[in-house]
Amino acid sequence: MQVQGSKMDEVKGTILIVDDEGSIRSGVSRKLQAEGYNCVTAADGNEALEKAATQSFDLILMDIRMPGISGMEVLPRIIADHPDTGVVMMTAVGDTQTAVEAMKLGAYDYVTKPFDVDNLVMRVQRALERRGLVLENRGHQLRLEQRVEQQVGQIRQCYSEAIQALAREEIALEKLSGAPGTGKKADFEDVYLQMAMVLAQMAEMHEPYARGHSERVALLANEIALRLGCSDELIRNIQLAAIVHDIGKIVIPDHILFKPGRLTSAEYSEIKRHPIATVDIIRHVDHFKDIIPLVESHHEWYNGNGYPKKATGQNIPLGARILAIADAYDAMTCPRPHRPRLSNEDAVQALKKGAGTQWDPAVVDAFLKILKRESTMLETTIVDT
Ligand SMILES: [Fe+2]
Repeated sequence: MQVQGSKMDEVKGTILIVDDEGSIRSGVSRKLQAEGYNCVTAADGNEALEKAATQSFDLILMDIRMPGISGMEVLPRIIADHPDTGVVMMTAVGDTQTAVEAMKLGAYDYVTKPFDVDNLVMRVQRALERRGLVLENRGHQLRLEQRVEQQVGQIRQCYSEAIQALAREEIALEKLSGAPGTGKKADFEDVYLQMAMVLAQMAEMHEPYARGHSERVALLANEIALRLGCSDELIRNIQLAAIVHDIGKIVIPDHILFKPGRLTSAEYSEIKRHPIATVDIIRHVDHFKDIIPLVESHHEWYNGNGYPKKATGQNIPLGARILAIADAYDAMTCPRPHRPRLSNEDAVQALKKGAGTQWDPAVVDAFLKILKRESTMLETTIVDT
């Protein structure tokens, strides 16, 4: 049954009234219609679901106890299928507990039968006002997400321009030097490092809690590489790889990257895309080709439980095994959206525990010696002061 025609010129909203008692349906409809609402009625839960599927309602006023499918069963289906529709439950005196349960499921409010008609109108108005706020907030959230998406688009554009600039430098370099290995090529090493830092800074601007992460990882990795006696070329590559290692995080949706709680396995799979995404960004520049294996493998585990290739032991490039430890130590000792920072002592314990499983034990050993040396130097400085 549809109750047509409002006495008011402007319809305040469309309400579905669901009750198995005909007198309540018609009485409530008459009152709300007189107040300027367009009213539609349904005599049971199934009819309510059918009408909600074919027509849009601002509000549904629904009896909790009805023969057949109850209001409590209809409620979650309405909320799931029509999240923009507000629901107010109607209940008999003495059934308040069920009404409270309904509100936990997502109903806005409940009214108790028999109705005080003025109270009913007031509750309907209040529920519609609340719905208006919910929709407004949702719109605001949507606009915010669009703005963030726009910013990400701008950062991506900057990436692409920076990559093109690097490619142009490469061509200019070849023209100037005439042959690889001449002195001028060495002069351009700094240009690439600076460009890498620009890329990293753009990524870190988007991920504020990661600010400075890549530079700290580069410093730590450099110390480890020096201690392990790596060649100058490998040390240069490790530094460059450290700077850009996480720029691929730009492809991960914000709601996953900044999620404060535990990630689902699907969300974690998204996170695991970032080493390959970084490779996709840097592979356009010839000069970066030697650091691709390092960047790609910085989340591999020594025992093969890492990603993306599940590489093991010495099959993981040494530069990547060094990066993994510098990266993990800095990440552990800095706060993240889902956890506070760890103390240095706790981070050292974690590294010791993961030596041989997550990390190369020889590299962990070298890093712990560096930390020990630095803390001894610090203590000496404090005593001297
Ligand atoms: Fe990473």
